[in-house]
Amino acid sequence: MSLELSKKALAVKPSSTLAITAKAKELKAEGIDVVGFGAGEPDFNTPDNICQAAIKAINEGFTKYTPAAGTVSLKKAVCKKFKEFNGLDYTPDQIVISNGGKHSLTNIFNAILNPGDEVMIPAPYWLSYPEMVKMADGVPVTVHTSFENEYKATVADFEKAFTDKTKAIVLNTPSNPTGMLYTREELQAIADFVVEKDIYIVSDEMYEYLTYGEAEHVSIASLGEEIYKRTITVSGVAKSYAMTGWRIGYCGSPLNVAKAMAAIQSHATSNPNSIAQKATEEALLGPQDSLVSMRKEFNKRREYMYNRVVNMPHVTCHEPQGAFYVFVDAREATKLSYKGEVVGSAANIAKILIEDYNTAVIPCEDFAADGHFRLSYAISMEMIEKGLDRIEDFLNTLQ
Ligand SMILES: Cc1ncc(COP(=O)(O)O)c(C=O)c1O
Repeated sequence: MSLELSKKALAVKPSSTLAITAKAKELKAEGIDVVGFGAGEPDFNTPDNICQAAIKAINEGFTKYTPAAGTVSLKKAVCKKFKEFNGLDYTPDQIVISNGGKHSLTNIFNAILNPGDEVMIPAPYWLSYPEMVKMADGVPVTVHTSFENEYKATVADFEKAFTDKTKAIVLNTPSNPTGMLYTREELQAIADFVVEKDIYIVSDEMYEYLTYGEAEHVSIASLGEEIYKRTITVSGVAKSYAMTGWRIGYCGSPLNVAKAMAAIQSHATSNPNSIAQKATEEALLGPQDSLVSMRKEFNKRREYMYNRVVNMPHVTCHEPQGAFYVFVDAREATKLSYKGEVVGSAANIAKILIEDYNTAVIPCEDFAADGHFRLSYAISMEMIEKGLDRIEDFLNTLQ
């Protein structure tokens, strides 16, 4: 024997988004005027009614273990939300409450994958999916999309990547990093494919409340009985209710999948935080006005940012319809030179921007999107204006 780490641990890459955000925070702590476009979390505080529910829970001594997959009252609240917002009928025993959406997703992959099973992931993707699949002994299969199709995968794309080892598709709508939403028609076509192939669909709807303009969020499981039976619908309160630190995610799934996830969770972590569960109940059942005002503010920033970026030289983007990201296609910029040297990659753009312009952006190589970077508008308007001025100055120097 030796003290070597496991092959699994060695195969996992640390999250580069967290690394960039940490770097920006470090510079800020040194007193440098940094603009951080890396944020993957709302800049708002958790609404007061939610905080008060948590304080009440503590004062009432709701501080003990709960059932491992969550309290019955929170599961019922989640069922109500699924019914009213998503048009989905789940019973409480089909719900598993976990320590954040990330935990829900890792539970799912552990519940459905055997070693070597393949999971198709449309790219650009949120960088954690492939790592989560690998941690569950699965094999992530990247399904490339195009700018022209708004970075959305079609049945033809899935058909090309499908093998007899394919077990599931991961779909993320609204998407991090692209901000795009799948339409009802697009989802119907994918649902038909999933039913025909008899595989699972893991539907990550974490940003479901954050949609803008005419964009309609559709849950793929709502498109019929057969697709419902093959869908695991994941969401959480982190992004919509500014509750990233509370760590509550949840999912609705076929009963056998829910039971398997609950069993895994019962040994791995036991219940999610009891106080955060009470806070989540308030988030889902209490007044929704904070959500509406946060969304309004995001929308203002989104419109401003899109209009600025789309008019900058050497880059382009689609108008985002959801989440809080503008996804920038900088492939042309990477071919140009900065201070006499070819820029080459989005990673180098991010390096130049942080080192020479005190501006943090997320390069998207790890999202399987070379030549692209992601800008979050979960920061103040003042910061957005300042940061975009800096990015524009940088782009104007390219030759
Ligand atoms: C697409 C997507 N899904 C899931 C999550 C997980 O959210 P959390 O674990 O904070 O609930 C995130 C967070 O960044 C995300 O962007």
